[in-house]
Formats: sequence, C-alpha cells, structure tokens
Amino acid sequence: QRGVALVAALVGILACAPADEPSPANGHQVSDHRAGAPGIGDTDFPKDGNGGYDVGHYAIAIDYTPAGRRLVGVTTVTATATQGLSSFNLDLAGFDVSAVTVNNAPATFSRNGDELTVRPARPVDNGARFTVKVSYSGVPTPRSGTTLGTYGFIPTPDGAFVAAEPNGAKTWFPANDHPADKAPFDFTITVPAGVTALANGEMVGQPTTAGGKTTYRWRERYPMATYLATATLGKFDLRQGRTPGGIPNLAATDPRFRSALDGLYTTSGTLTDHWATVFGPYPFGSTGGVVDDFAAGYALENQTKPLYGGFHPGENIIAHELAHQWFGNSLSITRWKDLWLNEGFATYAEWLWAEHKGTRTAEAAFRELHNRPATAPIWKYPPGRARPDDLFNQSVYSRGAATLHALRKAVGDQTFFALLKKWAADHRYGHVTTDQFIELAEQMSGKELSALFDAWLFQPRRPA
Ligand code: ARG
Ligand code: ZN
Repeated sequence: QRGVALVAALVGILACAPADEPSPANGHQVSDHRAGAPGIGDTDFPKDGNGGYDVGHYAIAIDYTPAGRRLVGVTTVTATATQGLSSFNLDLAGFDVSAVTVNNAPATFSRNGDELTVRPARPVDNGARFTVKVSYSGVPTPRSGTTLGTYGFIPTPDGAFVAAEPNGAKTWFPANDHPADKAPFDFTITVPAGVTALANGEMVGQPTTAGGKTTYRWRERYPMATYLATATLGKFDLRQGRTPGGIPNLAATDPRFRSALDGLYTTSGTLTDHWATVFGPYPFGSTGGVVDDFAAGYALENQTKPLYGGFHPGENIIAHELAHQWFGNSLSITRWKDLWLNEGFATYAEWLWAEHKGTRTAEAAFRELHNRPATAPIWKYPPGRARPDDLFNQSVYSRGAATLHALRKAVGDQTFFALLKKWAADHRYGHVTTDQFIELAEQMSGKELSALFDAWLFQPRRPA
C-alpha cells in the first residue's frame, strides 16, 4: 500500500503538472506556466504595469453618457506572452467587471485594488500571442494626488476630460499601465448625439448616428504609452486642415474657449513644422490640440492631440506639448525616474522657441535659472532622478532644460543639434534611458561628460 502511494507521489512529482496545466504534448519542451508579476518592475511605482506579457494592440470600445456619468466598456488587449502564464494582471481602477475572455474562452478573474487578475481556461505558453477581452461598466473615478492634481478619465458637465499621466489610463480601460509597454490603439466611442468624441490619431470613416447616439472611430497606428491615450468628450468647435508643411492638423475648443480655436490651430501647425526642422521628421500621422473647460491646472501631450485644461494656451505651452511628440511620445521613458528626458527636453524646446523668435536667448533663460541663490529649492532636487512623491517638480522641467543647455555649451551648437536629431531618430517609437543619452552625447562629441551630467542631473546642489 505504502509503496503504491510512494510511486504515485513520485509520478506526480516527475510529471510536474499542476492540475490546471495540461502536460506537454509529444515530448516538446515543457512549458513552465506561472503567474505574471503584478508590476512591470518600476520600483518607484511597484504596482504600475504588469509582468509576463507585452501588449501589441488595444481596442477600446466605450459608450459614455455624460448625464449619468456611466461608462460601458469592452476593451480587447492583444499581447504576446514573455513567459508561460497561468494567470496575468491588467491594471483597472473601479468599475464592475462582468466578463473576461482569453482567446474567446471564458476566463476566471479577481480584483485586488487596481489589479485585475485573469486566469485563462488554458494557460498561455511563452511566446504565444493571446487576446483578452474585458467587459466592464460603472462611473469612472479619476485619481488625485497632492502634486499631481486630478487626472485620468474626468467627467465634465458635457462629457469628459481625459488626461492620464502618470498612471490614470486604468481609470477608463484595463491596461498594462506603464510607458515601458507601448502599442497602437483603436477607439470606438459612442456618445449621445451632439457630443463630439476626440481620441488619438485619425478618425476612421465618418461618425454614425442611430437611436440618438453617435459612434466615433479613431485609430492611433503608432505605438503609444497608455497615459497618452485620450477620449475627450463634449461640445467642441473644430478646425481641420493641414499644417503649411502638409501634416493633418485638428484643433478643437470647448465653446467657452472658442476665441482660442484659430490661434491653437495656426500655432500648432507652425510649431509642428518647426520642430520637424529641429528634431527630425514628425513621428505621427497628425497633429493638433484640444482646449476643454476643465481647469486641470496643466496640459498633457496626448499623442497627436495635446490637451489644454481650461485655459487659453499660449505659444510656449504649445511649443512644449508638441516637442513632447518627439520627446516622451515617440521616445518613451522606461522608468519614471528618467522623466527629465520628457520634461527637460520639452522645456528646453520652449527656450529654443523663444530664441528662434528673438524674444530671449536660451543662454539668457539658462543664466536666469543658474543665478538663483544656492539655497533655492531647485538645487536640492536633482532632476535626473524624478521622485515618485513629486514627479513633476519644477526641477525636472527647468533644471532638466538647463542640463541640455550646459551640454550645448560644452559640445557646441553643431554637435548639440545633430545629437538631438540622432537621439530622436535612433529611438523613434522606442524606449530610452538617461544612460543612453549620456553615452550618445559622449560618443558624438568625443568628450568625457560625466562630470557635467553628474553636476546638473544628480547632485543636490547648485552646479558651479
Ligand atoms: N506632461 C505634462 C506636461 O508636461 C504634465 C502632466 C502632469 N500630470 C499631472 N497629473 N499633473 O505639461
Ligand atoms: Zn511636459
């Protein structure tokens, strides 16, 4: 009796097949299926994003009613497993989830905070492409943080203001919500007739209206970080056309900001074309901007359609948000601590625009900053390491920009501007780190630049 039990136990161990995982067929390599990690590995934001897969496409279909603030969504995520998966997570905040399927088969799921854990009926093999469809509904709850303001899917009286940096995509769709995983997006947005839906990329076909509801289809065909996805809804006046350089351009303003429409359209066109001469070809299929009447206290560089929160945008901020289309959107950070690669570059673009216009040289802007007293808070916050509790500190913006100007002075204009273009070209649609930038700067200049970068990016004191 004992012997039989022992043999049975040994067979169980040798077969090594947990009950929920089929044993390998025809002697092929044994797939090792385990749970995907609940975070992508950004230690400052341990639960953001997820491990074990790489998203290849998002298809988001939402029906939103401003009056009831109710969102009904079906999001289909196509991904490739980077390990054998017995289960995996998506990030989703709030909502009732009514069903999840994986490869069209019903899956079991559980919720824990903002983690949605999906256990497919059949585990997913390493390297396999799979599709997960999540059906959900409820009233979206945007996020708030003391230094972040309100972000995510923010209901407004006539629709929604959707700006999700850093991790508010999960307030409106299940996502691998971290910029280290980008993918193209398709949007199908149904709203009451009379409401306009503005998402990233370009409109697909014409909106269709039936039964008092209008459906808009938008497609962003280039890889996009989840925080840059938008479905901004409401009453809007639109102006459409092309930039002088030929890029499709769409400006939209809430009726309260109607007087900003022509300026937004023209300046966005001018600056998109201008940055293409400085940073290299525009990375996306269209450009433009949206002014909504929600007073967010910030703008966000939503891909192809920066969103300005309740103010009349001037040239500087338009220059900033459009520079992000290269730095932040086409080239994305791998970890939030490297945020100066977005904000320092976009702020330096503001300095470059003023210099181009003849209003103020970048050198004057740099001196103004560098002349701040040694006790000024900006010198205590090293911008090369953005802090999770104060991600968008002014240092990340201005001291980040000053870092680039210090670099420009060290390597000369010719090398500096060639470097900006090569940086944007080498990592187009990809991911970047601060170390990669320092390495390229040293390589192109032939100079040892570690002291310069260390003083400007990493020391908690004013550089000499
Ligand atoms: N990236 C935006 C900009 O440069 C700032 C976004 C701030 N996000 C937030 N939740 N406050 O203008
Ligand atoms: Zn910015």
